[in-house]
Amino acid sequence: MVKRIGILTGGGDCPGLNAAIRAIVRKGISIHGYEIFGILNGWAGLLDGKIKPLGRDDVSGILHKGGTIIGTSRTNPYKRDDGVDKIKENMKISNLESIIAIGGEDTLGVAAKLIDEGIKVVGVPKTIDNDLKGTQYTFGFDTAVSIITEAIDRLHSTAEAHHRVIVLEVMGRHAGWLAVVGGIAGGADLILIPEEPFDINGVCEVIKRRHQSGRDFSLVVVSEGAKEKEMNEITSSKRKDEFGHEMLGGIGNVLSKKIEKITGFETRVTVLGHTQRGGTPTAFDRVLATRYGIAAIDLIAKDQYGFMVALVGGEIKPIPLKEMASGIKTVDMELYEIAKVFFG
Ligand code: F6P
Repeated sequence: MVKRIGILTGGGDCPGLNAAIRAIVRKGISIHGYEIFGILNGWAGLLDGKIKPLGRDDVSGILHKGGTIIGTSRTNPYKRDDGVDKIKENMKISNLESIIAIGGEDTLGVAAKLIDEGIKVVGVPKTIDNDLKGTQYTFGFDTAVSIITEAIDRLHSTAEAHHRVIVLEVMGRHAGWLAVVGGIAGGADLILIPEEPFDINGVCEVIKRRHQSGRDFSLVVVSEGAKEKEMNEITSSKRKDEFGHEMLGGIGNVLSKKIEKITGFETRVTVLGHTQRGGTPTAFDRVLATRYGIAAIDLIAKDQYGFMVALVGGEIKPIPLKEMASGIKTVDMELYEIAKVFFG
């Protein structure tokens, strides 16, 4: 019997998801002779049995498109008593032999647990946050960095014209990769990240010194998860998602008010938000997502389950999903030290 493989995309969307889906479908059908099915809206589709066949025509013309043609959600099957049973039942009804889960820490965390239930899963790492252990890059990150870089370039000229401080709040829940890499690329004058809680007076000193030395404008990049020493992260809502994450956001506003009050310099804030996740993927993300998709379907062809495809030393290699699930990948502090050379 022809192998039937299900693909799902879970968690926050990111540019490159469609490129990965296209790669899996194209190689899965034409080289391996499989039947490929799209599971709609992440793990929710396996709980509700919302699964549809994906053929070559379905993945035509999607390489450059943002979002995901099969939808996504932050559904956690372990939040339902019968979640795992429902997944098994719906896989059986649809005759799915195995699943390729494309996701971040939450979606792939579920995949890592399902292996112990005897479910055959292969993981593909995506997230703009680039915070997955075991891989140098997740796809989506490069596109988000280029959006941040462009935003900083645009904010620089207006900050300079008005002699202002501009605070740019970027995404990145518990890891400051987007802020650090985007900030270095855009020439930020200060970058604040979750990994290193900051002292507000120290921040203002750096800005004051810069302005006193004749450069009377500043660009501060702050991760949504950055926080002042001995304080909690700022949240935009007390509501938590099914994986227990609070909705972060608001640090940019708090910070800009404090900077203006302490330094006396006129300060504005820009929150980049979901623009970082939308639209066309960069060439790098399209190629990385394609390589991951091909590697994932090839693992299935070799009957190798329980792995996530990862970028290691420039090559795509399988690493155990359990290794990915053992924690998150925080910012490389050597890279942050490079960013600090340009502070002030
Ligand atoms: O996990 C990716 C991410 O973009 C985080 O950087 C951010 O905190 C979160 O998703 C936002 O989630 P939502 O789309 O649910 O607002």
